[in-house]
Amino acid sequence: MAETYDRIFKNGTIANQDGVHRSDLAVKDGKVAALGDLSRASAGEIVDVRGLHLLPGVIDTQVHFREPGLTHKEDLETGSRAAVMGGVTGVFEMPNTNPLTVTAEALEDKLARANGRMHCEHAFFIGGTHENVADLPDLERLPGCAGVKVFMGSSTGSLLVEDDEGVRNILRVIRRRAAFHSEDEPRLNDRKHLRVPGDPSSHPVWRDVEAAMKCTRRLVALARETGARIHVLHISTAEEMRFLADHKDVATVEATPHHLTLDDTLYATLGTKLQMNPPVRSALHRDGIWWGVHQGVVDVLGSDHAPHTLEEKEHPYPESHSGMTGVQTYVPIMLTHVAHGRLSLERFVDLSSAGPARIFNIASKGRLAVGFDADITVVDLKKKKTITNQWIASRSQWTPYDGVPVEGWAVGTVIRGQRVMWDGELVTPGAGAPFRFLETL
Ligand code: DOR
Repeated sequence: MAETYDRIFKNGTIANQDGVHRSDLAVKDGKVAALGDLSRASAGEIVDVRGLHLLPGVIDTQVHFREPGLTHKEDLETGSRAAVMGGVTGVFEMPNTNPLTVTAEALEDKLARANGRMHCEHAFFIGGTHENVADLPDLERLPGCAGVKVFMGSSTGSLLVEDDEGVRNILRVIRRRAAFHSEDEPRLNDRKHLRVPGDPSSHPVWRDVEAAMKCTRRLVALARETGARIHVLHISTAEEMRFLADHKDVATVEATPHHLTLDDTLYATLGTKLQMNPPVRSALHRDGIWWGVHQGVVDVLGSDHAPHTLEEKEHPYPESHSGMTGVQTYVPIMLTHVAHGRLSLERFVDLSSAGPARIFNIASKGRLAVGFDADITVVDLKKKKTITNQWIASRSQWTPYDGVPVEGWAVGTVIRGQRVMWDGELVTPGAGAPFRFLETL
């Protein structure tokens, strides 16, 4: 007797860890129930995806959604709307909100706010501080927690552990992989005078290569000393990439679409819109990060979606805020690199879904396989569009890619078998659930 499923995505092409091939995909109870030729099976709904590719749901492991406290820039609803409009099925959200996410109450508050309002899967990082270090072993194990995030250099918000002793104390007590913003705070302080008022191209002069490299060297040494696992966020220099290639036993590595796509020649046209921590640097560094992608050093992509209002961005440098939107443009920007032959589709899947699941031990996500959650980013690899500010669902309503042509577009975002975004419409709002992690099941 033919099997009956809830839904079958028919006639598509699946890109998975084992290659790219024609396959139907059946869903039952939110999970992938069968792959292959399902022409004889029946289902409550058949979705014809001929000509489209089904990718394991894209997981963006670094976003700032600003709720609570900074919701004039973004909130969990608008940020997750931007995510699903761009084909992202899940996000890890950062702790530099107000109040900071540094206690169990703050984490529970975020989970409660997310419930029924977030459109995609989600987890929240706990900020590691000098004050909460003793609590971190319990905090990092709470449901819905993505792990500990430490700012070693200051950025937006007041989270900061700038000293070796503080970082050592955190690494000694935690068990899960912790994520780091790696810029050397003492060096940033020493070099503040190099910021040229009104000239954002001095941003990477102030926050220079050595500030990033020095901090990453310190961080890796501390990880070795303590036997801890570290995840180094948003690598911005060729030097760090080469260095981290020698330390893959302790360190995993994130690259961002903006550090892979933009370079410092764009300060002339984008001005403070390009201002980000760590900074966008020269093409040599951009190419050094691509080297890390091609050589397998990079484990995951994260957008570091860091929205600020245009008004906040337009303050004269250096009063202008650091950060740009990115969660919605992640997929089309990276698929355009695929279209241009800089990245294989399989490696994109590795970086955007399998990689996050592997390094953060996410349960039941990261591949299209029977028994796994049916989280799918449905893409049209041939679709040519132009990114515009009008398309951006983030409350901040701007993107550094306004007017940029792309090739490759997410036409559907499917989460646990439900179509959440389809053809640019949000069709199943508010159904996102917390990620589950192997360490905290
Ligand atoms: O430019 C940045 N902005 N880098 C960060 O690490 C934080 C972010 C923000 O929250 O605005």
